[in-house]
Amino acid sequence: MTRLENKVALVTGALGGIGTAVVREFLADGAKVILMDLDADAVQAAVEARRAEGHAVAGAAADLRDFDAAKAAVDRAAAELGPVDIVVANAFTGGPSTTLDKTTPGAFREELADNACVAFNAVAAVVDGMKARGGGAIVVVGSVNGLATFGQPGYSAAKAALISYTRTMATEYGPHNIRANIVCPGTVRTPAWDERIAKKPDVLDGLTKWYPLGRVARPEDIARPIAFLASDAAAFISGAVLPVDGGLMAGNHRMARELTVED
Ligand SMILES: NC(=O)c1ccc[n+]([C@@H]2O[C@H](COP(=O)([O-])OP(=O)(O)OC[C@H]3O[C@@H](n4cnc5c(N)ncnc54)[C@H](O)[C@@H]3O)[C@@H](O)[C@H]2O)c1
Repeated sequence: MTRLENKVALVTGALGGIGTAVVREFLADGAKVILMDLDADAVQAAVEARRAEGHAVAGAAADLRDFDAAKAAVDRAAAELGPVDIVVANAFTGGPSTTLDKTTPGAFREELADNACVAFNAVAAVVDGMKARGGGAIVVVGSVNGLATFGQPGYSAAKAALISYTRTMATEYGPHNIRANIVCPGTVRTPAWDERIAKKPDVLDGLTKWYPLGRVARPEDIARPIAFLASDAAAFISGAVLPVDGGLMAGNHRMARELTVED
């Protein structure tokens, strides 16, 4: 039996870089997957492609900022595939690569609210069903930006908020046998970087030197720990904040070298 056999998983942002890898990992592990993303035609095309490979999938196209629309779309997909056991709150609405000085009050509020609420709304759409059936697993996709400063102030504040939110879920939903954990990826080459790469083609090359492992992540580097946390192999892990960052948050070796004075 594979790790996620007979489980139904809702994956948000399912058509993005990390979302696509999560869907592939979950399907390989035997799960049935609800692909949730913004564009209805693109969701339908992805659903047909996965079905042509023999997988059990359904689509849920909606803007997660609109809870009622998101819940209706998830309910329709769950009627097709079965009630949701796992949710991967992976979608995000982003935020400009800028400084605090250039962040307006309106932009800060929007980035903070939208990036946090798309995760909240995904979980809120399915958590009552998990409670009623006696359990579930929630994996939130945060960021190292929620742990330390790497630019994008509003987005980062939202990712920090999601750490608190995940811990609250772990404590409040734990008695319902629902686990909640958050992964905090470092840099991953995905379409989220396209705009910045268009402006500065070598932006990711310059980042590799900050990573102790000497490279940025591949989407599957993030998808595998998510699948582990969603599975029964992680049955006693809840409330964990897991950096998946090639050692980035372990410390600063460049600084350590600079302050080391050897004889
Ligand atoms: N790429 C990185 O370097 C990186 C680093 C740390 C954390 N992350 C996190 O990983 C997650 C996935 O990022 P990615 O790099 O795969 O991005 P991506 O842009 O490739 O994918 C994001 C997906 O979310 C969808 N989406 C956006 N707004 C939505 C909404 N309102 N409702 C429904 N769907 C919506 C998009 O259509 C897209 O398919 C995000 O939570 C992001 O914060 C990414």
